[in-house]
Amino acid sequence: MGNIFKNKSKNSLSPVKLSSPHLLAIEGMKKSEIEELLNRADHFANLDKHSNTKILSGYVVLNVFFENSTRTRVSFELAARRLGAEVINISLINSSIKKGESLLDTASTLNAMRPDLLIVRHPHSGAPLLFADYLNCSIINAGDGRHEHPTQALLDALTIRRRVGFLEGLKISICGDIANSRVARSNIHLLTTMGAEVRCVAPPTLMPSSLENLGVKCFYKMKEGIKDADVVMLLRLQNERMSGTENPSEREYFKFFGLDENKLSFANSNAVIMHPGPMNRGVEIASILADDTNRSLIKTQVEMGVAVRMSIIEALNYTK
Ligand code: NCD
Repeated sequence: MGNIFKNKSKNSLSPVKLSSPHLLAIEGMKKSEIEELLNRADHFANLDKHSNTKILSGYVVLNVFFENSTRTRVSFELAARRLGAEVINISLINSSIKKGESLLDTASTLNAMRPDLLIVRHPHSGAPLLFADYLNCSIINAGDGRHEHPTQALLDALTIRRRVGFLEGLKISICGDIANSRVARSNIHLLTTMGAEVRCVAPPTLMPSSLENLGVKCFYKMKEGIKDADVVMLLRLQNERMSGTENPSEREYFKFFGLDENKLSFANSNAVIMHPGPMNRGVEIASILADDTNRSLIKTQVEMGVAVRMSIIEALNYTK
């Protein structure tokens, strides 16, 4: 790959119609649908934040989070508000679960509030699917257990596409705690669908089995896994989903799997760095690389999150 700094925009002026009223996973999505959502998100990303995008007036969005979140929750809220929707944030971390309410009862309570869209993050894989089965509104999965985090993969794709110009044929290395990462799973589905060459790099304890069936190559050494890569995507060690023995120590992890200048020198000389956040400096990534405004796209990822979520919320309203 030669110079990959192209910054091509593929603006789309019309809303996207999807084949499903929900966004539960990237797995199963068509390449054309992903492309159209990214084109429309490109349009929103190019707009001034004061542009009149208030096309969803009267549309009610419930932002229901059963797990902590800062960037994803705020990003969805901003996206919905920029489209003119009414947004209600509901934090259910431990609350209704601790009080003994079943997920089905929570679903039926939320349904009685007659939302148009429910955005749900839940520690258990499959919870958004259950909500989709029991509620009369659209559902967006904002991250379910180790399963999927579809909007993160879409915003990552938009970030890469705006910087590089395309996804097909790019060598993309996803490094770190693959086993516990819904971000990795959604990205693997999206990037392989779009024709990128995806590599996963992790210690054996954090590499899920049968990953190769998803069309990726697995590596257990950073220097081999990121050799000639165009994009190096890092993942947080998701200690909250580990049983305790998967990772010896943060210091040792950084030595073997943390991205530093030496390991990065094996990648393409133009390679860009990504991380979904929250990042741990000195564990997954050296501070100097996280702050390298030339190579690190971490802040652009956050910015693109709002544009991508606008395109999805608009599409679901258009699809129902
Ligand atoms: C990710 C998540 O929640 O899965 N964060 C995010 O949404 N930006 C990744 C993580 O928690 O490490």
